[in-house]
Amino acid sequence: MPVVDTLDIDALRADTPGCGHRIHLNNAGAALMPAPVLKACRDHLTREANHGGYEAAAEAKAALEDTYDAVAELLQCHRDEVAIVENATRAWDMAFYSLSFAEGDRILTSEASYASNYLAFLQQARRTGAVIDVIPRNEAGSIDLHVLEDRIDDRTALIALTHVPTNNGLVNPAAEVGRLARAAGVPFLLDACQSAGQLPLDVDALGCDMLSATSRKYLRGPRGMGFLYVRQSLIETMEPPIIDLHAATWTGPDSYTLRADARRFETWEKNYAAQLGLRAAIRYALDLGLDTIQDVVQARAAHLRKLLADVPAVTVQDTGAVQSGIVTFSVDGQPASGIQEALRAQDINVSVSPPSSTLLDATRRSLPPLVRASVHYYNTNEELGALQQALFSLTT
Ligand SMILES: Cc1ncc(COP(=O)(O)O)c(C=O)c1O
Repeated sequence: MPVVDTLDIDALRADTPGCGHRIHLNNAGAALMPAPVLKACRDHLTREANHGGYEAAAEAKAALEDTYDAVAELLQCHRDEVAIVENATRAWDMAFYSLSFAEGDRILTSEASYASNYLAFLQQARRTGAVIDVIPRNEAGSIDLHVLEDRIDDRTALIALTHVPTNNGLVNPAAEVGRLARAAGVPFLLDACQSAGQLPLDVDALGCDMLSATSRKYLRGPRGMGFLYVRQSLIETMEPPIIDLHAATWTGPDSYTLRADARRFETWEKNYAAQLGLRAAIRYALDLGLDTIQDVVQARAAHLRKLLADVPAVTVQDTGAVQSGIVTFSVDGQPASGIQEALRAQDINVSVSPPSSTLLDATRRSLPPLVRASVHYYNTNEELGALQQALFSLTT
């Protein structure tokens, strides 16, 4: 049976209100929420309105706590290793800025680094004298593992990798990077923002010590929600850059004690409706199975790349031996923003990846702003065909 038939796409589309109105190919921006996610968020907001915010949280305590179990199941970690925060960037920041760097310490990363992460490297390099070392890509476009292995030395304080970059179909070989990090005893921080919900993630198999992700992308959760995993053995060595009365207890006029679990990276105040939406989204993905989701998303994206290759004015810009649901392309003589606008007028949602989102990669490959059509399992081949037809008519 072909992999695309392993999910009941019609049923999944019927469970997704947004599928009825548009062709949504901006899943790497924010995917469409399925009905149970929407219901979880709405029900909690209604309870907050009717019962009071604190009272609603008390009523939902068991479900809110279950979010930690859901994330733990998704990542194959312990619930005490999970922090629920407002987005992937803050999750990543809380891990990164909790590490200490001394002058000459080396941060190894890849050309596919996401802008916000690289900005944090630059800031810490300025503050501490740490050195950023960018590992080049190999011929296939992913991080060169041989160079990485050679560059790890006793001053290497961190390896930080973007698993699935925002501007490219590439899937970086995270587990291989994790093996090298482990062998060298170097902490490994994985940005799984675009991979959570489209690829199976097992923190032990990946060999990562910290992992950040967001709710709204391939997981199909609500906006303004994310999570962080930190390996138990590291948590107690990490002092969060910002703390509050949830992260720590004020024990005396001159003292405080940090929580022992990963919730030391959280804040007290939270968007509980969104947290319950995240929980529903993760349970939804787990029910479908991440292996199945991966197969279907990759098959759909491969099909789209083939369709785009038949449009003469279009150049697919994806690299990587293993590829994700993100499909990027440029169009001869037409700016990406114009294509995005023209497609939106036809109810086709795509986004634009500007060079500044992944500056090193964009510079290295001389990329213009790219059109990004990111597919999910609920996109049909008919929808992908409609995108191809729209591009034919926009370019001929
Ligand atoms: C690879 C990658 N990392 C991190 C982020 C940041 O995620 P968030 O907007 O949830 O902070 C993004 C967002 O597009 C991303 O693509």
